[in-house]
Amino acid sequence: MLLRTAAGRSFWWVTALCLLTLALAACGSEQYPQTTLLPRGDFARIADDLLDTTVKWAVAVFVLVEGVLVYAIFRFRGKPGDPEPHQIHGNTTVEIIWTVIPALILAAIAVPTVRAIFQTSATPGKDALTIEVVGHQWWWEFRYPEYNVTTANELHVPVGRTVSLRMASADVIHSFWVPQFAAKRDVFANRETRMWFKAEVEGDYPGQCGEYCGIQHGRMAHRIRAHQPGQFQAWVAHMQTLGAQRKLAGQSAEYATGEKLWTSKGCLACHSLNAVDAPKGMVGPNLANIGARTHLAAGTLKNTDENMVRWIRDPHAIKKGVLMPNLGVTEQEARALAAFLRAHR
Ligand code: CUA
Repeated sequence: MLLRTAAGRSFWWVTALCLLTLALAACGSEQYPQTTLLPRGDFARIADDLLDTTVKWAVAVFVLVEGVLVYAIFRFRGKPGDPEPHQIHGNTTVEIIWTVIPALILAAIAVPTVRAIFQTSATPGKDALTIEVVGHQWWWEFRYPEYNVTTANELHVPVGRTVSLRMASADVIHSFWVPQFAAKRDVFANRETRMWFKAEVEGDYPGQCGEYCGIQHGRMAHRIRAHQPGQFQAWVAHMQTLGAQRKLAGQSAEYATGEKLWTSKGCLACHSLNAVDAPKGMVGPNLANIGARTHLAAGTLKNTDENMVRWIRDPHAIKKGVLMPNLGVTEQEARALAAFLRAHR
């Protein structure tokens, strides 16, 4: 009687668990854009197909094994007054079968797995767009040698052309993660790692550092902005105008004050406003098009006047441990600097 109740209870638990899984699966991944389950590029699709294959095998095995188990529970249930069942001590045939079948399944899964490893590790062709990725505590630098353009925290890519990422770190180990286009790859200070992908759908996709890299690891986000080829070329052409001697015409008095503060407060020691010929090894992110970015401080804040002022006044209150010092600027000075910077689009 006791056994019967326990079996019944576990049956209901299994049923409830299955229903819960189905309910959770129904919450579509569209609402959670930082997902690997909604691939938007060829590299990500290879990994997703592999996951699908493995899950299908796993579901088949689960249904088969649990089906036999549930059948056995009900079919061979003991009744009151039954004699003691026949005792056995192992069955060689059965043991061989349940060793060989999983071995065959694993061998079958290994074929597409090994193929995917080779496909994703392959070197992209010569027509790929090379982009250098540098991880910093706690932001991302992106350099386009082909166009002599540098930017930060927002990686612009063309749809339909493979991009070849050549990646490194300026300090500790980070991991560049592009959930919907590719995978995660650790980046190191002393060697180059590579990854490639071809975006298939335009849009704005979030990504995130995938390796614990210090206190603000969680605020080391980036965005992939995939454009149609024409729009991408327009972006490149625009970025190529963001050079050193740029004068922004028709700006306010606040802008002029901000421009002076940019020099007198020493901002330019760590940040460059040059997208073209940008100096290497800068401590802070390149700000040539900061006004056009969606976020500030590597995804920490939405890019608004208010947030820019808050950030300049006291970055440590927002991102404790960040390398940017508190410059002791007044509210008014911060507003002027924000006006100056946000005009850089
Ligand atoms: Cu960089 Cu975590």
